[in-house]
Amino acid sequence: MELCLDQVSKSFGEGRKASLVLDRISFTMQTGQFVAFLGSSGSGKSTLMRLVAGLDQPSSGSLSLNGQPIRKPSAERGMVFQKYSLYPWLTAAQNVAFGLELQRLDKQEIRDRTAFFLQVVGLSDWAACLPRQLSGGMQQRVAIARALAAKPQLLLLDEPFGALDLQIRESMQEFLHDLWCRTGLSILLITHDIEEALLLAQQIHILAPRPGRIVRSLVVEHDGSDLAGLRLSRPFLNQRQALAAEMRQLDRPLA
Ligand SMILES: Nc1ncnc2c1ncn2[C@@H]1O[C@H](COP(=O)(O)OP(=O)(O)O)[C@@H](O)[C@H]1O
Ligand SMILES: [Mg+2]
Repeated sequence: MELCLDQVSKSFGEGRKASLVLDRISFTMQTGQFVAFLGSSGSGKSTLMRLVAGLDQPSSGSLSLNGQPIRKPSAERGMVFQKYSLYPWLTAAQNVAFGLELQRLDKQEIRDRTAFFLQVVGLSDWAACLPRQLSGGMQQRVAIARALAAKPQLLLLDEPFGALDLQIRESMQEFLHDLWCRTGLSILLITHDIEEALLLAQQIHILAPRPGRIVRSLVVEHDGSDLAGLRLSRPFLNQRQALAAEMRQLDRPLA
């Protein structure tokens, strides 16, 4: 898997009313990498994600996966949004199976994959529950299982835990870290949460707003895999504080 963005810009509107939302975004990522884009609200994160997902087209520049231009959504790029996107009238298992049925997979294959990926996200015992019977964190795990069931080469996460309470968010971050360690998935995460980006990603691209552009890219070194301990460690807290100061500078209105 190789995702490659080359000088990708996006503006909305025409002529004098046109506004540039993304300005020449370039980056690549490879199989097994966990990459995060970190930017404040309005910095163009969701716009970027929609381009990678193939839901929208760039105004200029190009996006490719394995050398093939990205033109439309595809099962090879699985996506999870901030807002719960489950069908409320379908059970957890039916939600996971839904996309597989659209793909017209064999019935047994659908049952097996659904059971397997519900197990991966720790929800085997909740297969028959409707979304409203599940907590927010569990609903997002169903959404992740649904994305994984299509066996994507790349998992796209747009602020997937943004709507969750702090404690649930922390346990979901630990879940995602563990999932990534276990499966070697390629993950592109978009977030405004500094701690989340620093804890989870190997590489962080910092987006400045208006227009959204990469101002710095950093490589994050992790020694252990225990997120709960890392969260409280001195070097981590220092790094988080420095990054917070950097982000505040970016958000200052131009004089
Ligand atoms: N379809 C659209 N039409 C016009 N403006 C848009 C559209 N989508 C996003 N924008 C604008 O692009 C900017 C970035 O939005 P978005 O990508 O949602 O940022 P983020 O996800 O980082 O909060 C915002 O100013 C938003 O108003
Ligand atoms: Mg957004």
